Amino acid sequence: MSARHETILVVDFGTQYCQLIARRVREEGVYCEITVPSLVEKDVERLEPSGFILSGGPASVYDEGAPTIPASILERGVPVLGICYGMQWMARTLGGEVARGERGGEYGHTEIRVLRPEDPLLAGVPERTVVWMSHGDRVEKLPPGFQVMASSGPCPVAVMGDPRRGFYGLQFHPEVAHTKEGKTILRNFLRGVCGLEEEWRPGDFVEETVARIRAQVGEDGEVLLGLSGGVDSSVAALLLQRALGDRLHCVFVDNGLLRKGEARSVEETFRGRFQVDLHVVDAGDRFLEKLRGVTDPERKRKIIGREFVEVFKEKAREFRTCRFLGQGTLYPDVIESVAAHGGPTATIKTHHNVGGLPEDLDMELVEPLRELFKDEVREVGRVLGLPELLVARQPFPGPGLAVRCLGEITRERLDVLREADAVVTGEIEAAGLAGGLWQYFAVLLPVRSVGVMGDRRTYEEAVALRLVESEDAMTADWAYPPREVLRRISNRIINEVRGVNRVVLDISSKPPGTIEWE
Ligand code: XMP
Repeated sequence: MSARHETILVVDFGTQYCQLIARRVREEGVYCEITVPSLVEKDVERLEPSGFILSGGPASVYDEGAPTIPASILERGVPVLGICYGMQWMARTLGGEVARGERGGEYGHTEIRVLRPEDPLLAGVPERTVVWMSHGDRVEKLPPGFQVMASSGPCPVAVMGDPRRGFYGLQFHPEVAHTKEGKTILRNFLRGVCGLEEEWRPGDFVEETVARIRAQVGEDGEVLLGLSGGVDSSVAALLLQRALGDRLHCVFVDNGLLRKGEARSVEETFRGRFQVDLHVVDAGDRFLEKLRGVTDPERKRKIIGREFVEVFKEKAREFRTCRFLGQGTLYPDVIESVAAHGGPTATIKTHHNVGGLPEDLDMELVEPLRELFKDEVREVGRVLGLPELLVARQPFPGPGLAVRCLGEITRERLDVLREADAVVTGEIEAAGLAGGLWQYFAVLLPVRSVGVMGDRRTYEEAVALRLVESEDAMTADWAYPPREVLRRISNRIINEVRGVNRVVLDISSKPPGTIEWE
């Protein structure tokens, strides 16, 4: 990996916030990677980090099997910032004392008082500021060389530091928005303590990655890429094309479960505008055939996943000259699989992407986006000239409309859903509401109810509107657009879409609901 970047290594002690810490660091223009305790030594050797951030975690340093890392990272002469558990680990390892928390610890907003405003870590932080505490244990006796830099009523050592060595500990979470000066403190650590400048920008990423792809693929290597029209594979395609030109071949599987106009827009964009060598496989009939009579959501997913792999594999055989397989894997997927293989972070949600691609294709993977977070992928997409419509696109599940067409999937019902969905999308976008929503779509319910249209009695299915706000899809809240917009959507669906006589609004948040209905 990019050894020439100065790197911060974030050690995951089991917090839910690890990716958030890494994103905050990258937002400051500093490259960083996340590692887990069992891989720290290897990653230190590989990256020679210019500083460490040790995350929080649910364990107590007194627990049996509490996560730990080699103390040698404290002897490398580079700064270390410990957060909550990371602070306690550092305090204990360096000869301080940690007290077990009483009464279940301290959680939520707390005011701290800055005692050493002149210290580079706390530059620009007001004397009193609100932070987000979440801890059971706390540091009772400082390790040699450390001073108290800030404290709160219940927590005398809210910030500790040894400025000479650049070692700091925070008993609160600087990475969450509730900590008012969290960004300032992290920036101070990166700039003032570690001495790192802003140097990681998505624009530079393009040039570097193009060079890296060329080095991996060689002078005449060819790459096959499955293009889905989603933002990840689209950006991967444009990067690969920039590096390889017509040595990139893209396969787009039309599974018959796409939204209205989607297949055509992918063709127009990639074949038309970017002149990518695009091969469309029209496999709708195959998928529908396999899905006939199936109503169980998990079975639907499995069938679609399996069929996708089959179709892709068959098509791939036509590209005998391709030794490489492109994939739009992102950094969160990389971290998730690292965490799953030996990291302490509890798996909240297993990922459910379609088409974990065929290993027996015997091709070498090229993954140009492996280091990026989603928002960085979007920025790279913009740099590469991907139309805003595609860059800002709402997430769309791999199994497509199958997860939104409840009950049996038939061509007719898919058409009904597609038309209703196009009304929702069109009206939300026309009302200028798209930017504030994470997703907005229609779900077709296998429920018939009675209505009247003109003088005629109807007995037809219902459409649910799913409009949600979210930061990262882990949690979501339902949105309530102006009545007029809802009225227009409802009128248009009932009048224009044959087969639907009722529209309902889903007002379930996640959790306990999920975004998709399935
Ligand atoms: P849920 O329904 O679990 O969805 O709240 C969370 C987010 O994930 C999307 N989603 C998928 N994305 N493949 C994907 O790439 C899938 O199989 C899949 N299923 C759900 C969903 O649209 C939402 O944004």
